[in-house]
Amino acid sequence: MANIVVAGTQWGDEGKGKIVDLLAENADAVVRFQGGNNAGHTMVVNGEQFVSHLIPSGILQKKICIIGNGLVVDPKVLIEEINYLKQKNITITPKNFIISDRAQVIMPYHKLIDTGREKLKGDKKIGTTGRGIGPCYEDKAARTGIRFAEFIKETVFSEKLKTVLVEKNFYIEKFLKLNPSTLEEILAEYKEYAKILAPYVADASTAINKLIKNKGQILLEGAQGTHLDIDHGTYPYVTSSNTVAGGACAGAGIGPKRIDEVIGIVKAYTTRVGEGPFPAELFDKTGAFIQKKGMEFGATTGRKRRCGWLDLVILNNAVKLNGLTGLAITKLDVLGELKSLMICTGYKYKNSIIKDFPADCKILEKCEPIYEEMPGWNEDISLIDRYENLPQNTKDYLKRIEELSETPVYIISIGPQRDKTIVLNNPFLNIPA
Ligand code: GDP
Ligand code: IMO
Ligand code: MG
Repeated sequence: MANIVVAGTQWGDEGKGKIVDLLAENADAVVRFQGGNNAGHTMVVNGEQFVSHLIPSGILQKKICIIGNGLVVDPKVLIEEINYLKQKNITITPKNFIISDRAQVIMPYHKLIDTGREKLKGDKKIGTTGRGIGPCYEDKAARTGIRFAEFIKETVFSEKLKTVLVEKNFYIEKFLKLNPSTLEEILAEYKEYAKILAPYVADASTAINKLIKNKGQILLEGAQGTHLDIDHGTYPYVTSSNTVAGGACAGAGIGPKRIDEVIGIVKAYTTRVGEGPFPAELFDKTGAFIQKKGMEFGATTGRKRRCGWLDLVILNNAVKLNGLTGLAITKLDVLGELKSLMICTGYKYKNSIIKDFPADCKILEKCEPIYEEMPGWNEDISLIDRYENLPQNTKDYLKRIEELSETPVYIISIGPQRDKTIVLNNPFLNIPA
């Protein structure tokens, strides 16, 4: 029996959705533990692509899917996602889908504040997804947020909203100079959402712990990536939650000793959406090649992703912060036609060499990558189904990642489809009861 956390090691979009969908086959439940619909997780099964923003990526494997207490949930988006999946003949009932009664509700004013502030900041903007994530987490910390438990009780909800809205609308009107929604408008809209979602709202932590007690296997699905973590990422160019594996315990309501393995998802190169420092970023034709071949466009906002070489300073930081026990290397096929590959092994800053990820973004902005060159394989590896059959140069690239990160590669992904994967070690199958 094993409970596994899947965490992004870079700046998100590493291919978590694909790997979670794959691993979910042997899980009993898949749990999201932080973030909201800033996430966009892609799964490709039987030639069809699904992008999920809130519902865990275990839904196509027909597993119990749980939205943990650590999430901020836009009810409108969640309902759209449920309807979209139902249209695709995927069953979603209160038996296989739970929303934590402690999860926070994203309100219209959160979205307005998010986008309004970004506009005011001009070129100092963070480049958020505009989904209201930051402002909703702010309210959670300020203890003025609305949880699902309150949201589904009409009187409790309207009373709380009435109090909160006075302050929000003052800020929206006077500071952001925008038109806020009235109490009546929000109540009318959100009352309908509450009715639809109420049957799914339950004590998620109790449900997860019950499953664990009954020897169920839990897969905890991280969103975003380690370097977007509110504490450990490139602050302030981060999201507003703890994206590291440690967040899984708080955001799902389980104890740390329940976690057996932490798998870090590593794109074979690096991408980033939004603003913020990115030392190994490429501005040349290789960067443009990777962007095009990797189809690096955001699954949530459609923005072009910035691309660069694989950065081991970042990966080693993720190994440390998440306690990674294994790696899943994704999008290895994208590097196919490149003659040589670079791995960033350190940063040059003034006259020193930095190997530990600096806290100060101003320092990071001035860091120059130190590269180690490796030969490419100049071959399409997307049709290979066994590790043994990979070109020697591909194996060497993987071995070098293992050596530098001191972490074993468990999974190799060579295409977006579920079956375009070489699994070397599946911890769900290897940990004895
Ligand atoms: P997530 O947010 O970490 O789940 O990642 P996204 O879904 O936002 O972005 C990853 C993109 O890469 C999606 O379009 C996936 O379908 C695609 N993808 C995942 N793994 C692979 C792979 O091994 N090769 C290729 N070519 N595409 C992949
Ligand atoms: P998945 O789960 C990539 C980025 C945004 C922005 C910053 C803050 O698909 O990997 P926010 O809206 O969260 O306040 O934006 O974080 N960001 C992501 N980048 N993948 C994601 O999720 C992201 N979620 C947020 O682009 O730079
Ligand atoms: Mg994504």
